[in-house]
Amino acid sequence: MRSVSNRALSSPRSGIRVIFDKVLSMDDVISFAVGEPGCEAAPHVVAEGQRAFDTPAMHYTHVNGIPALREEIANYSSAVKGLTYDADTETQVTHGATAALMLTFLTLVDPGDEVIIASPYFTAYEAQILAAGGTPVVVALRQENSFHHNAADIAAAITDRTTAIVLNSPGNPTGAVTPLADLEEIAKVAIDNDLWVISDEVYHRFVYTGEAVVSIATLPGMFERTVVIDSFSKTYAMTGWRVGYLHGPAEFVAETSSLAEPMTSSNNSASQFAAVAALTGPQDLVDTMRTTYDANRKLVGDIIATAPMLKLAPSEGAFYAFVDVTGTGLSSHEFATQLIEQEHVAVVPGDAFGSAGEGYVRLSYVGTPEDTREGVQRMVDFAVRTAGVQA
Ligand SMILES: Cc1ncc(COP(=O)(O)O)c(C=O)c1O
Repeated sequence: MRSVSNRALSSPRSGIRVIFDKVLSMDDVISFAVGEPGCEAAPHVVAEGQRAFDTPAMHYTHVNGIPALREEIANYSSAVKGLTYDADTETQVTHGATAALMLTFLTLVDPGDEVIIASPYFTAYEAQILAAGGTPVVVALRQENSFHHNAADIAAAITDRTTAIVLNSPGNPTGAVTPLADLEEIAKVAIDNDLWVISDEVYHRFVYTGEAVVSIATLPGMFERTVVIDSFSKTYAMTGWRVGYLHGPAEFVAETSSLAEPMTSSNNSASQFAAVAALTGPQDLVDTMRTTYDANRKLVGDIIATAPMLKLAPSEGAFYAFVDVTGTGLSSHEFATQLIEQEHVAVVPGDAFGSAGEGYVRLSYVGTPEDTREGVQRMVDFAVRTAGVQA
């Protein structure tokens, strides 16, 4: 075979694979490894998707998405986040948030440009920036700052090649929700240095601090330099339907739109009709998920607190617990591998999310309370036993 491109060869491989392969080869695993809701989409959403298959709706759509969906997305962003975006010129439906991010990097990054990302991070950021020809510049999130994005750390990483800053709050894998005061400082840094901010808000409905999450795009001077990324995947338990979107200034969306044309041509029609139903129909599932995750979050916190060698990051949002396992004497990878082998409990090693994740494991607490209790108790038993052996 003729050789493939350096771009393809240099794309980082996901460190989560090893654990997923083990999960697949065992039949009695309690898994905290998946990064998606543990339930199906609401029945009225599924019904609308099925209905679309039976109508003449299954054709190419506008590259930016069906007008009805863009309209409802703009209404949602206004009602839930206080954002005002035009449905026609400032909104684009994409193949999940993943494609929205890729289009954004392709639009903003020239070869050699630097994009600041905070580690531990959602792994696609690094791979996508590299694929766009850019250089990811990694700023470590600090445990002592509860893993919040920090303006001073970001400012210290800026060079004359910096193009954009990626923010993710609530964050994957940390569950951290960056407070408004920090966002205001980051906004100032972005404005002073004339940078774009890419705000990944896919977990915005899952916040447990009692405050609504604020989009940095609402802050003064930020509308014209922010790209808001969101998705139906987590909010409406629609990961496999592949519907996400981006908002940005009209000049920016004109470019992401023309890049999407040769890449996807349009998004899946049935999924777009289902997404309209998700926004316009009953919202109970979102509330049920939030209540379930919050209860699981407390359960995880209570059980982990009984193990002095484990430390839990605050876990303010999303559905992730990020646990410091260094007290067991094991690396992230050793901890995750031995835990699944000895206790049949799957977690993701933190180094899969960048080097600042070493020493941690991520638990996704989207399962039943029974499995959550049993799985975390087994993890604690394993940690106690292991720390005893190591000591
Ligand atoms: C922070 C973050 N952004 C984006 C995505 C991608 O979401 P989508 O399914 O909409 O592509 C994920 C998925 O895990 C994520 O954790």
